[in-house]
Amino acid sequence: MTQGEARPSARTPQPAATSALGPGTALAPSPVMVSAGRPATPPPCDASAVHVRLLRLFASPAYRPPLLAQVALEVAALADRPSACFEEVVGVLEHDPILAAKVLSIAQSALYAPRSPILSLKQAAVRLGLGTLRDLVVEAALKLRVFRVPGYEAAMERLARHSTLVAHLVRGLCRRTAIEGEYAFLCGLLHDVGLAAGLLALSDEPRGGLVPFDALGPVLWEVHEGASSLVARLWGLRPEIQRVVGTHHQLLVGGRPHPLNAALIVAEGMAEELDREVAGSFETEAGLDGNPAELFASACLALGLEGEALAKARAEAGEVARALLAENPSLAAGAEG
Ligand SMILES: [Fe+2]
Ligand SMILES: [Fe+2]
Repeated sequence: MTQGEARPSARTPQPAATSALGPGTALAPSPVMVSAGRPATPPPCDASAVHVRLLRLFASPAYRPPLLAQVALEVAALADRPSACFEEVVGVLEHDPILAAKVLSIAQSALYAPRSPILSLKQAAVRLGLGTLRDLVVEAALKLRVFRVPGYEAAMERLARHSTLVAHLVRGLCRRTAIEGEYAFLCGLLHDVGLAAGLLALSDEPRGGLVPFDALGPVLWEVHEGASSLVARLWGLRPEIQRVVGTHHQLLVGGRPHPLNAALIVAEGMAEELDREVAGSFETEAGLDGNPAELFASACLALGLEGEALAKARAEAGEVARALLAENPSLAAGAEG
């Protein structure tokens, strides 16, 4: 957080912690991270010790981010080059047949191919454009590897659902409000990747044992923005993506509302509403990673979403969620991942 900016109050204010990860990590924790299938009484967890352990792990020169398929990183870098052509991107993608198949199956969904079927990666690239193909590749790669942490499967499934929904909603909001949103979908997909990185770092390091997710929630929340930014940097993603994911619970950047941050905050809020309203879909009990109501209201105001405009945006978000659910029954809460 930039000095002098007041962070809107979180639901349970707690003293801010100083983090070695930089801006965006000294945050009030969220009390709302809860996991499916939790034990009745989680074992006690020394939150400050885990916090210190996580900060040390992330600050270590030996830290390695979660593995994202190399091909996905190459496609992301290639798609940013003005000179990139469809054949080149598809050629890189074909080096990873499992990822390529996953990309094609997502591209064939009604969300991307509403009128006629997409039959090949080349066709997907031509029809959707390189930017959308890049988004699909990262989405597929995250699902294959990153959102899978041994011992935390249920929490990771919920994080994957949350990230997918927020990515689609933030892209729609950027289109609706004419915000430049080239990287909106990726920011939505990756905004909470720091949560996965935190769990992975803890589960990779045997010292201290596997701490139950419920006990970890508030600590993870404190460090997750900084961790998301760190992971995006280590993956070589664009500085704009690093910045947005590293500040995604803040509306003000440099003293002013930032449009993409505002869109992410509104998308998170609408995702939480849909958790409640779309029966049996993205239900996450009390929500995975929420913002205070006043921050949502300020973000709506910053985007000019009031009255009828807000109602239309909400209706559109509901349609997106239902379309996602129709295409991917596995996104429904409680479905097999
Ligand atoms: Fe978050
Ligand atoms: Fe989130």
